[in-house]
Amino acid sequence: MCGIVGYIGGRDCADVLMDGLEKLEYRGYDSAGIAVFEKNARSPGGTISTVKTRGKLKCMADKLAAEGKPEGFCGIGHTRWATHGEPSDINSHPHSNGRVTIVHNGIIENYTELKEFLSEKGYSFVSQTDSEIVACLLDFYFDGSDPLRAIMETVKELRGSYALGILFKDFPDHVYATRKGSPLIVGLGDSEYFIASDIPAFLKYTKDYAILDDDEIVAIDNGGVKFFDVHGIAVKKQIHTADWDIEQAQKCGYPHYMLKEIYEQPDVVEKTLDSIITDGVPDFSGIGLTDELLRGVKRVFVVACGTAMHAGIVARYAVEKLARVPVAVEIASEFRYMDPIVGEDDLVILVSQSGETADTIASLELAKSRGAKTLAVVNVKYSAIARGADMCIHTLAGPEIAVASTKAYMVQITVLYALAFRFAYARGNILESEMKRLTAQLYNAPKAIRDVIDNKDECQFIASQLVNVETLFFIGRGFDYALSLEGSLKLKEITYIHSEAYAAGELKHGTISLIEHNIPVITVATQRNILAKTVSNMEEVKARGATIIAVCRKGTEFAEGTVDIELKLNIGDELDDMLIPLPTVCALQLIAYYTSVLRGIDPDKPRNLAKSVTTE
Ligand code: G6P
Repeated sequence: MCGIVGYIGGRDCADVLMDGLEKLEYRGYDSAGIAVFEKNARSPGGTISTVKTRGKLKCMADKLAAEGKPEGFCGIGHTRWATHGEPSDINSHPHSNGRVTIVHNGIIENYTELKEFLSEKGYSFVSQTDSEIVACLLDFYFDGSDPLRAIMETVKELRGSYALGILFKDFPDHVYATRKGSPLIVGLGDSEYFIASDIPAFLKYTKDYAILDDDEIVAIDNGGVKFFDVHGIAVKKQIHTADWDIEQAQKCGYPHYMLKEIYEQPDVVEKTLDSIITDGVPDFSGIGLTDELLRGVKRVFVVACGTAMHAGIVARYAVEKLARVPVAVEIASEFRYMDPIVGEDDLVILVSQSGETADTIASLELAKSRGAKTLAVVNVKYSAIARGADMCIHTLAGPEIAVASTKAYMVQITVLYALAFRFAYARGNILESEMKRLTAQLYNAPKAIRDVIDNKDECQFIASQLVNVETLFFIGRGFDYALSLEGSLKLKEITYIHSEAYAAGELKHGTISLIEHNIPVITVATQRNILAKTVSNMEEVKARGATIIAVCRKGTEFAEGTVDIELKLNIGDELDDMLIPLPTVCALQLIAYYTSVLRGIDPDKPRNLAKSVTTE
């Protein structure tokens, strides 16, 4: 959601900014812009050239070609995901009032009162955004000589969340930045420096970076980088080195990131397992998640958003089944405001790919304030959730660029299964031998996932049958229901086909009224203990004209005429039913992917969606 990039160094700034914005495209956006100090502007009162437009980066590139690219070595850029004011040229960032130019990610909640205050002081506004008031407020507090003080005074007035990149016209070749609640990092190259919302924006130039913490300010010029706290006191920052390499953040010959990320799944599952398994069993004692702690837990909450929340539903079935501890799966945007009954006997697990989702961060803070133990399952190292939780398990998916999450979900459920095994063992519900057997089974997952990928033609065929439908349903029971939710989300987000997921037994309590002739019902039917029940639900919708697409294990037989299309996963006893979601979700991802492509949609950048939701 909104991407920020800033640069100062010896390269052509506009090129670096455009390249960085391209790497942040995955965050979701509907307009873009850059502002660059013109290279002859190295004295006070220099010229800042701004080019911005509604639309994708291609529109920006066209505009730069038509109007001329600003020539300089220092500037800021932005991709905007509209919140206040429609996507338009005027509402695009950077915003400027002449002396101060800014880019902003986040929401200024008190912008109406600030706007009133500034109007009284004689400021006028051209856009409908909350961001423009920040440029004006900075100008109001800027005495012409002390940018740091202007920033310190301004942020005192702001409520809400923000990451800001700032240029002061009177300070050519200086970039300033600050943040609260929205991510911002500082890339440290060789005599060149960057600000960015995420590592891929500068990975090509440097792997070294520092994380700006809430309320901190960074001032960058050609001489280097200085960090300050909210009172203007200099602070020393830890330097991190990214362990992602540039290939991981590139398409590498695949037509889309999503397909590449689906194909990476067997490897990232293996890598993640290797990081949490010792001597054949899951071991989390290194992060303080000991058997003793697990024994003392009375309840578990899994709190997350979107796909990560769906991973929580798989976890719920696994942990309750094996460890016999009650698990509640909560949507983070609900949890944070529902005054949950949560306390020190509880373990709250925050699942997040980015580690920066605003509602999940707020839920973490709430859980901590109530004394609960908090565990993050996060893909991005040093992200807000990874750093904020008492304990953190890193999933090793590597950078996930496609908006629709695939490999991150896969490793989330991998980790959560392993946690369920350890939980059950710690509480005396299973013997060590059973924990070992289950862990060995988990190691069978990569091969099973690879097998689904090798047989992708079957998913392609199903996609060809879905390409023109307007609505469809997913149904399943137990783990199959958890998968239905994820399969349906994946499909609707990248194909724009209306899709709903139901617990198979629930459909007849209302939604079955929507079943008409030829409406596809994708039935996930991998759980053998309840297969007969799921089959009854298939019959119910079949009797009303639905087209049944069944996703099941090899060897599953249905009565003649029940199923229209079968996708039989080539899986035998190497995976218990509990673990079958690992390969099965891969099939559902591929169906969604191919349907999207056949409908002429770019699956990597679905409309209206943002990968990283840093505002609530
Ligand atoms: C957005 C993304 C989803 C993701 C969700 C949670 O909605 O489009 O793919 O599942 O945010 O993100 P997180 O980074 O916390 O996993």
